[in-house]
Amino acid sequence: MKNINYTHNIEERVAIIEINRPNHLNALNSEVILELETLLDDISQINEIRSIIITGSGDKAFVAGADIKEFQDFGKTQGLDLSLIGKQKLFNKVALFNKPIIAAINGYALGGGLELALSAHIRVATENAQLGLPECSLGLIPGYGGTQRLPRIIGIGLATEMILTGKMIKADEAHKIGLVNHIFPKEDLIGQTLNITKLFKTKSPESLCAAIKSINHSFTNNGDNIESQEFSKLFNTNNFKEGVRAFLEKRKPDFNK
Ligand code: COA
Repeated sequence: MKNINYTHNIEERVAIIEINRPNHLNALNSEVILELETLLDDISQINEIRSIIITGSGDKAFVAGADIKEFQDFGKTQGLDLSLIGKQKLFNKVALFNKPIIAAINGYALGGGLELALSAHIRVATENAQLGLPECSLGLIPGYGGTQRLPRIIGIGLATEMILTGKMIKADEAHKIGLVNHIFPKEDLIGQTLNITKLFKTKSPESLCAAIKSINHSFTNNGDNIESQEFSKLFNTNNFKEGVRAFLEKRKPDFNK
């Protein structure tokens, strides 16, 4: 892949995706989105991989937004396609992915970059991270889910201020308002993030997938029903039987089959 560095560690059961366009601060153009889509589709089928870390290459940016140069001449129809296709190929795919995805934010996470992080299930950041949705400064609004996901995560009051002012906030403030869960030292971002992914290895993968789906629907009218449906389906999994048997036998469950 031209714009992505990919590694996986089968022993740790984790994949690491590094968006690699450092000369453009890892801005997301259609080529990167397509590469990410293909890669995510492949990883979703690999049982040995239980979670994903997404980060940016270099030490300046996670992703500084959608590629402004690519959409500068667009009109309304292309704008609609940009938003809908981007959501279908990447942002909603990340949000509803069948394995946990952590955004490891190593610098600027702006516009589509922050929206990618908002689609991920957990966000962690380095001390030098700066996060914002500056689209109103470009005469746009966030179009990859930012107006929907940011209010759910930090509340409508703070989200409205961030979107309407376009103001960037630093990592410590993002941490204070719950936009990122942890701040890690720059040199150990991936190491510390791996400590979170290690915990996923000890859980039933079907449970994690069902929890992600239910949580995604927590702000929809059908969320309560989806939780019950997902909960009930798990009773038919071998990992449910293994989890309960392990508890009763006072041992750790083996979800690695
Ligand atoms: N789309 C396309 N190119 C981008 C980009 C984006 N979202 N963000 C940065 N780049 C490019 C710059 O154009 C520049 O390319 P060039 O060297 O060919 O001119 C290169 O990345 C480096 O960026 P630069 O602006 O020189 O770095 P900086 O340190 O001075 O500023 C930012 C960093 C992040 C503050 C600034 O790049 C910025 O404001 N980017 C746009 C953020 C944005 O509005 N994102 C939302 C898009 S919807």
